[in-house]
Amino acid sequence: MTVTGATRVGAVIGDPVAHSLSPIIHNAAFAATGFDATFVALPVRPADLGAAIAGVRALDLLGLSVTMPHKAAVISHLDDVRHEAAALSAVNCVVRDGGRLVGTNTDGAGFVDALTAASVDLVGTRVLVLGAGGAARAVVRALVDAGVAEVGVANRTTEKAEAAVLLGGRDARVAEVDDAPDYDVIVNATSVGMGVAAAAAVVPLPADRLRDGHVVVDLVYEPVETGLLAAARAVGAQAVDGVGMLVHQAAHAFTLWTGLPAPVAVMDGAAREALQPKT
Ligand code: ATR
Repeated sequence: MTVTGATRVGAVIGDPVAHSLSPIIHNAAFAATGFDATFVALPVRPADLGAAIAGVRALDLLGLSVTMPHKAAVISHLDDVRHEAAALSAVNCVVRDGGRLVGTNTDGAGFVDALTAASVDLVGTRVLVLGAGGAARAVVRALVDAGVAEVGVANRTTEKAEAAVLLGGRDARVAEVDDAPDYDVIVNATSVGMGVAAAAAVVPLPADRLRDGHVVVDLVYEPVETGLLAAARAVGAQAVDGVGMLVHQAAHAFTLWTGLPAPVAVMDGAAREALQPKT
């Protein structure tokens, strides 16, 4: 695509941000749809966040993705925050609404869409979420909205599990990793396994807790095939990798910025190609 005087600019801000896959995913989507925009990663130090958001207004950027460590702090610099982001105290996407900048959070919707795409029906299921950080909190909220029967939250630090459970209301409770056999779906929302080859078998719960019939979802997407997913496949469980949530949360952002349906297959292909191990 040729960049012209009319080309809009979208960006992801974070610190660090050079590793972000958002430019690859969104530029693939712009190319596939012919939407005249380009997407870049902009490192923003925490002390410069307010100035960066003022820059978004001044430069009339198309929209922003927001990643660590700015997801909570950005809220005070925006004109409004949608209810998903307010409930989580975390914004991962900034949208222009006329002259206003509005924060939203597409992680929960992206998670549910990824499971739908993997033919997983969440209604009435019991789901165990491992972890209680930002990703886990978005997942807990989305699961309850999706009509699951129960959400258990197991976390190394119990106080954080208790806080995450509050997002799930009466259908959520603190759980232990050893409870896994009692659940239908296991979601790894910890960072355990990130950057570790599957063969090293670094997993967030004892592998003997997994069984045939489980759906095992890993939000870790680098590597795509984690030790947890390999262990799940080994016992005959359904394994769902983390690329789905990554792509579907980006798909929601793309639609919010452009008003177009997202070319999800193209975005998924671009992400998977970028994540292929380099030989
Ligand atoms: P994210 O925004 O990706 O969710 P985060 O907010 O830093 O990241 O959360 C990371 C999660 O992984 C937390 O639940 C963390 O557990 P603690 O709350 O006890 O810190 C979990 N985690 C990270 N390393 C872990 C490990 N080695 N074992 C178990 N849990 C771990």
